[in-house]
Amino acid sequence: MAASGQRVLIVGATSAMAQHCARAWAQRGAAAFILVGRDARRMEPIVADLQVRAPQADIRVLTGDLLSTQGVRDIVDQACEAGRIDLALIAHGSLPDQHDCQNDLEQCRTALEVNGVSPVLFAEAIAGRMARAGFGTLGIISSVAGDRGRRSNYVYGAAKGMVTRYAQGLQHRLAGSPVRVTLIKPGPTDTPMTSQLRERGASLAPVESVAAAIVTGMDQGRAVVYAPVKWAAIMMVIRHLPRFLFNKLDI
Ligand SMILES: NC(=O)c1ccc[n+]([C@@H]2O[C@H](COP(=O)([O-])OP(=O)(O)OC[C@H]3O[C@@H](n4cnc5c(N)ncnc54)[C@H](OP(=O)(O)O)[C@@H]3O)[C@@H](O)[C@H]2O)c1
Repeated sequence: MAASGQRVLIVGATSAMAQHCARAWAQRGAAAFILVGRDARRMEPIVADLQVRAPQADIRVLTGDLLSTQGVRDIVDQACEAGRIDLALIAHGSLPDQHDCQNDLEQCRTALEVNGVSPVLFAEAIAGRMARAGFGTLGIISSVAGDRGRRSNYVYGAAKGMVTRYAQGLQHRLAGSPVRVTLIKPGPTDTPMTSQLRERGASLAPVESVAAAIVTGMDQGRAVVYAPVKWAAIMMVIRHLPRFLFNKLDI
């Protein structure tokens, strides 16, 4: 079973999904956590919580600019200096307002960088280290939004689509090697990211069950994890809907 004695790297460690994954890994006796985020103060309660759950674990915090090439390089170098990485999860992201992205190219660029470019750079840097070490499991959180562009969130969806296509290629590259890459596609989930959707009464999956699906999927080395699993069927239909029907949907 994964995590006992293992060293875990989490990028975007303040994410609600990531926090619940970390708790599961802590419960199973992970030996070390390297928690990456942009704000050291926001990481403090997460470290305190994990330390109580896993008194045996060595917990290290790394902060930096997650959006710059040099920031990504420095963080991954520092994370790997501390020792081998058995499990890595890339979890950072933000849900932009689609209209703001349409009306302001700077916001459009930021959304693409936070949700697409930065996760891909982290994945590339971490996968390279794992490939050289000859072991490791890398989980990358994309979204069902990346499966087909929709008017309500296509800038975010484009960034997630990039992550999805990138992960497919990385899996192809590493096929036959001991390194596993799991692409995670959550549906709408109850986390701080979706607080506005919750206020509007949207149906959201509990973050605990989505995190459990991520942990299990990475344990099993699955290529793709839809969480909750019903989204695999929903997105299969959405992806295959003919354009004349799709264009009538307000989604
Ligand atoms: N919740 C959903 O419905 C849903 C659905 C599909 C996919 N996802 C994806 O799941 C992942 C986890 O999201 P979550 O739901 O757990 O959201 P969350 O609790 O709101 O966490 C978002 C994370 O992204 C980080 N982040 C946001 N903007 C950043 C920036 N500009 N630079 C660096 N870090 C930044 C946050 O760091 P700070 O704490 O410093 O702000 C935090 O760690 C994301 O990739 C998200 O796109 C979520």
